[in-house]
Amino acid sequence: MKEKLEQIRQAALERIASSDALETLNEIRVAYLGKKGELTGVLKGMKNVSEKDRPRVGQMVNDTRAVIESKLEERKAKLAKKAREEKLKKEVIDVTLPAKKNHVGHKHPNMIALEEVERIFVGMGYEVVEGPEVEYDYYNFEALNIPKGHPARDEQDTFYINDSILLRSQTSPVQVRTMEKGKLPIRMIAPGRVFRSDEVDATHSPSFHQIEGLVIDKNITFADLKGTLEEFARELFGVDTRVKFRPHHFPFTEPSAEVDVSCFKCHGKGCRFCKGSGWIEILGCGMVHPNVLRMCKIDPEEYSGFAFGMGLERIALLKYEIDDMRLLYENDIRFLKQF
Ligand code: DAH
Repeated sequence: MKEKLEQIRQAALERIASSDALETLNEIRVAYLGKKGELTGVLKGMKNVSEKDRPRVGQMVNDTRAVIESKLEERKAKLAKKAREEKLKKEVIDVTLPAKKNHVGHKHPNMIALEEVERIFVGMGYEVVEGPEVEYDYYNFEALNIPKGHPARDEQDTFYINDSILLRSQTSPVQVRTMEKGKLPIRMIAPGRVFRSDEVDATHSPSFHQIEGLVIDKNITFADLKGTLEEFARELFGVDTRVKFRPHHFPFTEPSAEVDVSCFKCHGKGCRFCKGSGWIEILGCGMVHPNVLRMCKIDPEEYSGFAFGMGLERIALLKYEIDDMRLLYENDIRFLKQF
């Protein structure tokens, strides 16, 4: 019996010593100490040992078991340590490598400019509203006092879906949609995308953005329009900005004007930026035409109002001194990140 145990012990220890994986150790444990293991087999054979020898043999079995167990543990710890060291060696950190930066996007200059314009008008009590990009001819032209055959249509020749539906060429139809709702007074701006069949160049794109403005109330005069836009220009381009109203024509406003601001680069002296004139055109505006009010079921004898419309890209290009509109549509993050 003693020899048998000695044999088991030797064999087990040899296998343990030569094992090089945790799984192998497990297999060894099962092979010797498991339910059907060799040592367990010996224990089961105890009933054949004489009563006198039983305690001694029992003790020997227990000792053998203890030795095997402790060697198993020892080997296990060694293997685990070795594995950890190897892992660490593989994971050396090269502190000279450039850091992995997490690149987040950047707000588009259009969006920065729009948020600025919205902030200014919301501060004056305006609401921000939206209208559809696919629009009826009626809202885009007809209700704005631009009947079929009117020459103003030529300038804004647009993309037609069918005879009565088109991609809006201006945000002005949102004026009509807002007035039609019948809730007065109105103080709103309406930013959005517009479409025209324009060739792409440094200042044109077939799709761009406008911001429309509309105020309707009792006793609104051209003085309100002037004061509002002057205030707006000073907020957007700086307190010493001067504003000039040049007579113009729009079918849906009467009188109409185009607004120039004094060049914020040269302060009016004339430079490359303002093409030597000292002034920069920023928007169109006027008093809402009585025909337009009537078409929207508003009595021009009781109510009056003003409207204005500006190109968002133009504002962004001016404000951030970008000289080619096409840069705004490339979405090159290296460009966008500068603003
Ligand atoms: N919708 C005009 C355009 O696209 C701009 C404009 C001019 C809008 C005068 C207005 C306005 O509201 O009063 O050229």
